Amino acid sequence: MSDLSLKIEKISQQTSNVKAYVLTSSDGAALPEFTAGAHIDVMVDLEDGSTDKRSYSLASDPKDTSAYTLGILREVAGKGGSAFMHDKLVEGAVIEASNPKNHFPLDDEAEDNLLIAGGIGVTPILAMARSLSASGAKFNMHYAARAPEEMAFKADVEAVCGENGHLYFDGGDPAKGINLKELLSNRQGGLHLFVCGPAGLIEAVRTMATEQGWPENTVHYEVFKPAELDGEDTELEVVLTETGETITVPADQTILDVMLDKGMDIDYDCKMGICGLCAVKVVGGEPDHRDFVLTEDEREDEKLFCPCISRAKGGSITLES
Ligand code: FES
Repeated sequence: MSDLSLKIEKISQQTSNVKAYVLTSSDGAALPEFTAGAHIDVMVDLEDGSTDKRSYSLASDPKDTSAYTLGILREVAGKGGSAFMHDKLVEGAVIEASNPKNHFPLDDEAEDNLLIAGGIGVTPILAMARSLSASGAKFNMHYAARAPEEMAFKADVEAVCGENGHLYFDGGDPAKGINLKELLSNRQGGLHLFVCGPAGLIEAVRTMATEQGWPENTVHYEVFKPAELDGEDTELEVVLTETGETITVPADQTILDVMLDKGMDIDYDCKMGICGLCAVKVVGGEPDHRDFVLTEDEREDEKLFCPCISRAKGGSITLES
């Protein structure tokens, strides 16, 4: 049973492959407030007749409870969720969704905020800019796309950010986009960084931030295309200490999915390595960490591991679960 029943009030074409959806409550009631960086899980119908959920960030003003705005990229090589949203839904249709959840919040400790968005990663970053602008907080937003006509929510970013908005058109060549070295050098105390976009951008920003000496807790990110099983993975044996059971995880399934298929009661949400809810302790074997949420301390000292995305080197691993 979904939390929210949402009517699609308006669909607008933002770029050649991004549409914006304005959603209201189907019974006209106010929607739950959310915090900048939040997303909702939308139920989508897939071509094989199954139903699944897809997470989409909220780009609208977090204080606006009359409507939510999503921006959705139609992914050509996707599994059909964005194709359903783009091709099957029309204005007036009703969709089911979860309440807003936030794995990518702003940080109250920040005295200044550096927002970086690439492509469709603009959606949570735009909500952050709206929230920071409304509260009078210090921020700058840097946003890169291939070309002006391929920049979703360009007019909103310009209106919300004013002179604090910096737009880049790289023609598809990141080297012509945001100069990360320049942007991330000379960090002043109290500055926090928030980045959302393709995995390559996140990696480049995180690497540069580390090189430039940014403390780990000041670099916040959300990945839109998380690591996926890549076809080169192999079958795993996973020993679960609480039941003493050994489960076999096929190459094309995640450890979490096999645990859930076995009826195990385990917390999870994103299944993408970004929320950390599924984390369990490793007590044997060598983990191949692929999540985007655990810190080095959590991995090395606390031995935590996200079975929704991570695997094991050497074919077997023992988990305290
Ligand atoms: S379910 Fe979110 S990190 Fe595993």
